[in-house]
Amino acid sequence: MDAAAEVRKVVIPVAGLGTRFLPATKSLPKEMLPLLTKPTIQYIVEEAAASGLDDVLFVTGRLKRAIEDHFDLLPSMEVHLASRGREDLLQRVREPAALASFHYVRQPSPLGLGDAVLRARHHVGRAPFAVMLADDVYVADPPAIAQLLRAYREAARSVVAVTRVPRDEVGRYGVVALPPGADPALGRVAALAFVEKPRPEAAPSEWAVVGRYVLEPEIFEILERTGPGAGGEVQLTDALNELARRGRVDVLAVSGERYDVGEPIGFVEATVALALSDPELAPRLGRFLKGLLSADLRPAAARGPGGSAGGTGCA
Ligand code: G1P
Repeated sequence: MDAAAEVRKVVIPVAGLGTRFLPATKSLPKEMLPLLTKPTIQYIVEEAAASGLDDVLFVTGRLKRAIEDHFDLLPSMEVHLASRGREDLLQRVREPAALASFHYVRQPSPLGLGDAVLRARHHVGRAPFAVMLADDVYVADPPAIAQLLRAYREAARSVVAVTRVPRDEVGRYGVVALPPGADPALGRVAALAFVEKPRPEAAPSEWAVVGRYVLEPEIFEILERTGPGAGGEVQLTDALNELARRGRVDVLAVSGERYDVGEPIGFVEATVALALSDPELAPRLGRFLKGLLSADLRPAAARGPGGSAGGTGCA
């Protein structure tokens, strides 16, 4: 049985202020910070495009215009590179704009993820659609959103990606309540409830919502009636909770590596992992990391006073 409508549209909220990357994000959208040579947002759009999502709606805001420029053509640069015969670079310049058709809607105030998704209502219409959060970069085969789209096609029910996290980290996520014994790593599971950023002792499980969703358009009608929740923001998780109450949403653990590039440490981890998977960069970076980890090659700040290993560097 395959009654599910084809999903072509993806909503990518990018209006967030990126305060964890200040001062860089005073004038640069956090989504434009590069992992190697590509901005993080390009990895998200490439994942969408590789999964058949060819219509991208950015929910954007002030200070985010660089994202629009990135996914546009840049004729002056193309003329310059063409005149120098740099076909390789021309390709890199043209690639982003060719990934999908791009649309923009503004979210004037940071009222929350639920508010951002509701702003996509007019563009999405009455079709199922995907939501991808730009902070979650996946290295996965098949792509993470493709795994969810496949699950959606099987059942024509909304489906949300989850991953298991240590209990002391559940407070950073939306968390799902599951039927006893259910394991989303083995296949789609009906969600019983969702709660946004619970205290560890109050969390209904250790299965956390990560930034990939395929949603039926009924979510808009629910979001319309959803008031502010955790942190005073309109939470997508609260609308998912209503979907769960109606018995209309599943969760699925997607396979692959996830990097939270919305925080500096996750950003560094993603950079290192991507560089180590690049055959041209891996040998030299591997030598560098090994050297750095041996006491005598660590930078002075890490060696501490007198160069002794394990020092505080507070001299
Ligand atoms: C958002 C969602 C949360 C989800 C998380 C995944 O939170 O509200 O439910 O678990 O993304 O990254 P944020 O990271 O914006 O605080």
